[in-house]
Amino acid sequence: MISRLRAALSRQLSHPSGAGGRIVARLMNRGNRGLNDLAIARLEVERGSRVLDLGFGGGLTFAPLWERGATVVGIDRAEDMVGAARTRFADEVAAGRLELHAGDVGRLPLADGAVDRVLTVNTVYFWPDLAAAFGEVRRVLAPGGRLVVAIRDMKVMQQLDPAVFSLRGPEELAAALRDAGFAEADVETPPGGRTHLIVARPAA
Ligand SMILES: C[S@@+](CC[C@H](N)C(=O)[O-])C[C@H]1O[C@@H](n2cnc3c(N)ncnc32)[C@H](O)[C@@H]1O
Repeated sequence: MISRLRAALSRQLSHPSGAGGRIVARLMNRGNRGLNDLAIARLEVERGSRVLDLGFGGGLTFAPLWERGATVVGIDRAEDMVGAARTRFADEVAAGRLELHAGDVGRLPLADGAVDRVLTVNTVYFWPDLAAAFGEVRRVLAPGGRLVVAIRDMKVMQQLDPAVFSLRGPEELAAALRDAGFAEADVETPPGGRTHLIVARPAA
């Protein structure tokens, strides 16, 4: 029973859909706020920045990014999350402050250099091909841009279904970023060691 629940929760975290996905989105918006706030703080957003939240889930970064004067591009492979965001944030979409796309990190629906900042929080566990994924993020990031990847530590995540979550340490992610054309891929671990941020810039 517990393993069935764990598998169902893991699938929803990986690709939220239907009624279960709506519940999981609310839980993520509560439980992930602290880590997303840390990631936003390290993004160095400027007024007028165009920021991609890749795998935005319940969209909890949108309001804090608008408060900093950014316009937001949200991409998520879960059609239900994109549909919910279109309804909830219809005014911001109409005002041009939010652009939403259903899409996969393997093939982002954006032009080269389309965004100034990228954050992706609690998502890389679901990316089987890190080299291809980070290469694609590198492609859409403008020169002088900045990327923040945020994860929970493996000892936290190993409670979830290993068939759904690929667990990698922050140093492995930093190395994959450097291989994909990022420079200064620095690991930051807040006190407690339960989360990590990897802050990277595209190599010149
Ligand atoms: C655990 S949720 C995290 C949501 C949000 N970033 C947060 O911190 O609350 C992971 C999200 O990433 C999306 N996702 C997973 N793999 C993806 C991929 N390959 N391409 C685009 N989105 C993906 C899922 O659909 C889901 O909404």
